[in-house]
Amino acid sequence: MATERKSIHGQWSSRMMFIMAATGSAVGLGNIWKFPYIAGENGGGTFVLIYLACIALIGVPIMMAEIMLGRRGKQSPINTMKTLAKEEGRNQNWVALGWMGVVAGFLILSYYSVIAGWAMAYVFRTASGVFTGATADGVNSIFSDLVSSPESLLAWHTIFMVMTMVVVSRGVKHGLEQAVRYLMPCLLVLLLLVVAYAMTTGYFMQGVNFLFTPGDITGEGVLIAMGHAFFTLSLGMGAIMVYGSYLPKDTSIAQASVFIALADTAVALLAGLAIFPIVFANGLEPGQGPGLIFKTLPIAFGHMEAGTLVGTAFFVLLVFAAWTSAISLIEPAVAWLVENKGMKRVHASVWIGGATWLMGLGTVFSFNLWADHTWSIPFLFKDYDFFETLDYLTANIMLPLGGLFIAIFAAWLMRESSSRDELATYNIVYKVWRFLVKFVTPVAVIIVFLKAINAI
Ligand code: PFF
Repeated sequence: MATERKSIHGQWSSRMMFIMAATGSAVGLGNIWKFPYIAGENGGGTFVLIYLACIALIGVPIMMAEIMLGRRGKQSPINTMKTLAKEEGRNQNWVALGWMGVVAGFLILSYYSVIAGWAMAYVFRTASGVFTGATADGVNSIFSDLVSSPESLLAWHTIFMVMTMVVVSRGVKHGLEQAVRYLMPCLLVLLLLVVAYAMTTGYFMQGVNFLFTPGDITGEGVLIAMGHAFFTLSLGMGAIMVYGSYLPKDTSIAQASVFIALADTAVALLAGLAIFPIVFANGLEPGQGPGLIFKTLPIAFGHMEAGTLVGTAFFVLLVFAAWTSAISLIEPAVAWLVENKGMKRVHASVWIGGATWLMGLGTVFSFNLWADHTWSIPFLFKDYDFFETLDYLTANIMLPLGGLFIAIFAAWLMRESSSRDELATYNIVYKVWRFLVKFVTPVAVIIVFLKAINAI
């Protein structure tokens, strides 16, 4: 039986708006900044294939589960889990799943905002024309100058966090709905332009081969590929769940999930096809880490027709893509403060945003003042700095763990009648979904975890 609950935060104005907002959350720095550099660091081919398999077999089913739980609970993930656990006669400790999501969102946004700041700085760098005709070395030193300056990084991080707080404080309908609708398609067009440029470098096929020809991969590489499937689809922390809670009843969750996953994957693969030919054409190293797009794309903009304009527009749109993701990272926490502490949305946004800003200082300094401070956790990672540690713990541990528990709750603990009613889809789709979340997702996540610590 359908529940009569209503979200106190409002609803999306249409089915399309939900799809746009969820796609806005999914498509972000993860696709354009992170995917290429982690694919580069982990050897390309096999990594990309594992990532694609994870999107299809784990990502889409978990996305359906998250939206389903959100729409049924109609509250912040913390309260949704509390309500659903009660309704389904389960242990109240399931609320911890909501809490882990809030913490993960806070930690992710703290570094996400710093990287979004790089993209903002690049809007102005590109517009000033400094990249015109620039060599790989020139572009490299512009990047180094930026990240070695704590003041610059701090200023951009601050601006980005303020932008995020402003939107979140305006709520569901008046936030970024409109921006997502028009800006995402523009980003796609500009990405295609860079891919077209990449085709002229003479190294396009080398890029394609790098991305799709299987090679070697480590256990850690497999974990990073799976973690990234969660990260890129915004899964495992309640972002999609909270967006699902604002979803009207008549939307097909299965269709929406497939659309969002396809759009997200297309953007990531296009980013890879844009970047790797440029890497090889300029004799650069694919595994050079987080600076990768900032050291490659400007070379393309510096050499193509109207590159200053295209490049500037590209970074503007990248900032928008990051912005529409950032709001979904703190929405679960803000919604909870509004529900439980009776706070106004504005105040809740300022509190959470302020705390995130403070946490972000760690990432700002990890690229300069604290660059030499690294640590290791046995079996997990070696010599990671502050930013790398946060990224590892959130994307590779917290999100997959969140996804695992979401799968367990949705498939093993929730009554079949409840999930069937909420998903309201064809019998065969329901059966495939249930099989995937019940068996495939939990087993895959556990195997990958064990493999990463070399236990199997
Ligand atoms: N999916 C976003 C990206 O790929 O950039 C990042 C993200 C947003 C991760 C929201 C997690 C999340 F809940």
